[in-house]
Amino acid sequence: MSLDPIHLSRLQFAVTVMFHYLFPPLTIGMGVVLVYLEGMYLKTREPVYESAARFWTSLFAVTFAMGVATGIVMEFEFGTNWARYSRFVGDVFGSALAAEGIFAFFLESGFLAVLVFGWDRVTPGFHFLATCMVSLGSMFSAVWIIVANSWQQTPAGHRIATHVVNGLPVTRAETADLLQVIFNPSTMDRLVHTLIGAWVLGSFFVMSISAWYLLKGRHEDFARRSFTGALLFATVASLAAALSGHVNGEMVARWQPAKLAAFEGHFNTGRGDLTLFGIPDEARRRVDFAPAIPGGLSFLAESDFNATVIGLDKIPRQYWPPVTASYMTFHLMVILGVGFIGLTLLASWLRWRGKLFQQRWLLRVFVFAVAGPVLANELGWAAAEVGRQPWIIHPGVVRDAGGKPALDAAGMIQYKLEEGLLTRDAVSENVKGGEVLASMILFGAVYGLLLLVWLFVLNDKIQKGPQPVHAAAHTTTEGLLDVTSGRTLHRESMSEAKDEEEEEN
Ligand code: HEM
Repeated sequence: MSLDPIHLSRLQFAVTVMFHYLFPPLTIGMGVVLVYLEGMYLKTREPVYESAARFWTSLFAVTFAMGVATGIVMEFEFGTNWARYSRFVGDVFGSALAAEGIFAFFLESGFLAVLVFGWDRVTPGFHFLATCMVSLGSMFSAVWIIVANSWQQTPAGHRIATHVVNGLPVTRAETADLLQVIFNPSTMDRLVHTLIGAWVLGSFFVMSISAWYLLKGRHEDFARRSFTGALLFATVASLAAALSGHVNGEMVARWQPAKLAAFEGHFNTGRGDLTLFGIPDEARRRVDFAPAIPGGLSFLAESDFNATVIGLDKIPRQYWPPVTASYMTFHLMVILGVGFIGLTLLASWLRWRGKLFQQRWLLRVFVFAVAGPVLANELGWAAAEVGRQPWIIHPGVVRDAGGKPALDAAGMIQYKLEEGLLTRDAVSENVKGGEVLASMILFGAVYGLLLLVWLFVLNDKIQKGPQPVHAAAHTTTEGLLDVTSGRTLHRESMSEAKDEEEEEN
């Protein structure tokens, strides 16, 4: 049996990126929570805020470590599995990835040391600065990764050049205008939507753990305050996710009409209905069992319920994305997004009336609801990436004088083929299916282990709960996991603490 290196490489990248993407949105979301709690501590000097900030910092640190460990693997895969792709985009893509390392990762990890180890070593003001820098750094990371990713969705600011290397022609994209590369047509819309998705996750994570404490009757003051702050944040973020999702729909309609048509199973050009859910049938070119909002897709794409939306009938068949996968991932994300709005609005209303914390059934829902944003973030990325297929670098579309896609004699959209790169042409020439499979099994085992360790450490910290500040400042535990989670204190503060205790006694 021959193993197809293209399919396996795609599967491997999908698995590694989806595993990695469990962690960065959580750190981005939690970073904002840390800034809020520490800011509140500086303002009020109430110890409960400090102990809350210390607690969430410890969860942040282990999650950050997981994000770093799992992210590096993908950069290696560009070289091992996607060498032809790397040769084609290296000049453009490399700048964004290097910028991520230099501007974001260094900022984040430099100040992380102060955030984790500095509680009793630097002034509260400087510690707060470190928290803000770590939170900003995690968002800057997202900026550069999204610049790189958006460039391959909507390339700009580059030229295609062919050079002769060792007597052979090599064609590649080269940066012509760095600002245009950075601010390519989809960067800003996608960045905003991705950050909002991370904030939704961060706030649901805080609400999940707080709800669990409330149900158990533990750390109730801490849990109420954490829950209330996170709920406010989650409500605004959930509404903003829908709004920015709408803006993204317009952006996709303009730059990637095939993707939008696949998202909605919109086979025939014309007014587009927004199906709530259904089963696309590619052979019959229709969506079955699909209640729909008439004109809803036209509204999502053009802010006009009667606008014409290009359907898959205008896309050459060989350039169709996988319709069912695009449709399902996109719809599940939107359904979950609408669910978050309903849930957070209901909880906010109950909180405002002072009845939220008596609703044990709702607290139970919130304990598990964190799975929703995890899934929505994964589905959002899957929709964006699957919908871009069969291209790894999506080419521009030929346009008429009015900026609308120009159709050829057969009534089809025309791509600027020289700008694009098909995924099947991007995989390394020499990589063998067996090699990819072997490394996938290895990654699977290591990732499985990492996930278990992360869950174990997280569970341990949640079970112990936030420490009263006095106790936290006087506790130490050895070991790497405790070091990364910020519980290890330096010797001086230990001995000072001991002296104080002796004096008290
Ligand atoms: C509620 C209605 C929502 C709508 C209408 C919507 C719309 C969209 C659209 C059109 C895209 C594709 C963008 C592209 O291909 O470039 C997208 C991607 C994405 N969505 Fe949503 N979305 C919604 C909710 C959510 C929620 C609640 C989350 C997470 C909690 C989320 C997370 C993502 C992510 C991570 C991506 C991939 C990044 C990107 O390409 O922008 N979305 N969304």
